[in-house]
Amino acid sequence: MVVSTFPRVFDEGDLVPKLTVEGFGEFEVPLGKRLVLALSEDAGVDQLHACGGNARCTTCRVEVLAGDPSEMTMAEKNLLIAKGISGVRLSCQMLCENDISVRCISRVQGSGRPNPGSVPTPEISPPPEWTTKEE
Ligand code: FES
Repeated sequence: MVVSTFPRVFDEGDLVPKLTVEGFGEFEVPLGKRLVLALSEDAGVDQLHACGGNARCTTCRVEVLAGDPSEMTMAEKNLLIAKGISGVRLSCQMLCENDISVRCISRVQGSGRPNPGSVPTPEISPPPEWTTKEE
């Protein structure tokens, strides 16, 4: 069930979410920033995003330790189901909307890849259709 397709709009002055990354620290990040970009740009994580943040590869996966949003994009949901993956979220399909704590389990280090992948765009791609995590 699609909940909405509208882009999320954030007001200036909204609270700045706190991003906690296990082993890296705590970071204040701009409200509404893509999590994959917050991880690489704000937290300094060598987070993989092999498909460039387009919900095709799952290398941007993270374990959410606290603050997991109740909604996800249809693209994320469909990809996780197609790959038979559970217990993780795709950081390229998430926005920093509230305090969140994550464990980065898919990094350049140890992957054998030469780089994290092309830089994701500031907006979620493909254009998000929001749905709930549950069926
Ligand atoms: S699914 Fe490829 S970067 Fe997120």
